[in-house]
Amino acid sequence: MSSGKSTILVTGGAGYIGSHTVLALKQAGYNVVILDNLVYGHRDLVEKVLEVELIVGDTGDRPLLDRLFQTHDIEAVMHFSAYAYVGESVTDPAKYYRNNVLGTLTLLEAMLAASVKKFVFSSTCATYGVPEFVPIPETHPQNPINPYGASKLMVERILADFDVAYGFKSVRFRYFNAAGANPDGLLGEDHNPETHLIPLVLLTALGKRESISIFGTDYPTPDGTCIRDYIHVNDLADAHILGLEYLLKGGNSEVFNLGNGSGFSVREVIAAVEAVTGVPIPVEERDRRPGDPPNLIGASEKARTTLGWQPQYTSIKDIVAHAWQWHQQRHHSI
Ligand code: UFG
Repeated sequence: MSSGKSTILVTGGAGYIGSHTVLALKQAGYNVVILDNLVYGHRDLVEKVLEVELIVGDTGDRPLLDRLFQTHDIEAVMHFSAYAYVGESVTDPAKYYRNNVLGTLTLLEAMLAASVKKFVFSSTCATYGVPEFVPIPETHPQNPINPYGASKLMVERILADFDVAYGFKSVRFRYFNAAGANPDGLLGEDHNPETHLIPLVLLTALGKRESISIFGTDYPTPDGTCIRDYIHVNDLADAHILGLEYLLKGGNSEVFNLGNGSGFSVREVIAAVEAVTGVPIPVEERDRRPGDPPNLIGASEKARTTLGWQPQYTSIKDIVAHAWQWHQQRHHSI
């Protein structure tokens, strides 16, 4: 549907964070075109819920991109599409560097050829590696410990160089742990395979899994399990609208952490699920998962002060409750 506002290309718009942001863009009055190869994205979400144009293809497909930019008046690009399984990136780094780095470089070159020079990029706290201290500010050294984080850091570097050379403006968002679901129940987290803690605990509450494994109980944290900064996916979506509008108004390239600034341990997340669902969760204590930093908490003041970002759903119970609503609905309809 067309309006007076700009048209935004959203890569990965059929995925988890991308789909929530597409809905927020629509609600803010933007026209949206999604590019998604549907390897992990969901066509039915786009067709039934988002109802925007979907182009099925890869960011590495330069002829497709050239046609896309010729036939659509794109003002900015939001780039969510990437492979994001940390463990798989260690065993198959070629897949990650090809898609996340080469695919992105191809997209950026097509943008330059079409004189589209505004870009909102999904980076990650995984670019920091094992933090030297928490909360982690944007200025913290970046030493990723897996190819996934390295692939995202490489793109950050490319974007900085593109700004110097070509005046290419980007907002790079380093997400902490995206979680939760649209509070209206329209969208949610649907990875296949699922590896993330909150959905796996909820699937246990639904009886789809027998128990949840706790990966490591001997970390140097108060209860021995890893601490993460869980940030609601709708709050991430809001930040993307603010980042886009910052660039559309002529803002300079910037990097922002997006987190809540507070951390929850694996055991605290399981307790939150028990409180929300009323279902006791059987746990199995297992060895540490390789590559897991003990404690990741972000300092996100810069996004608040520069962009005016105000996360709405900062309580872990709200985050879990929205995810629970989505999972119940989804498994009820199957
Ligand atoms: N965990 C368990 N049991 C499980 C699954 C996870 O104990 O069955 C633990 C993990 O070991 C970790 C915590 O729960 O300590 C959170 O794990 P997730 O897999 O949900 O999230 P990660 O922190 O590993 O990963 C997230 C994003 C990545 C990003 C990374 C940055 O999913 O894309 O943060 O570290 F790279």
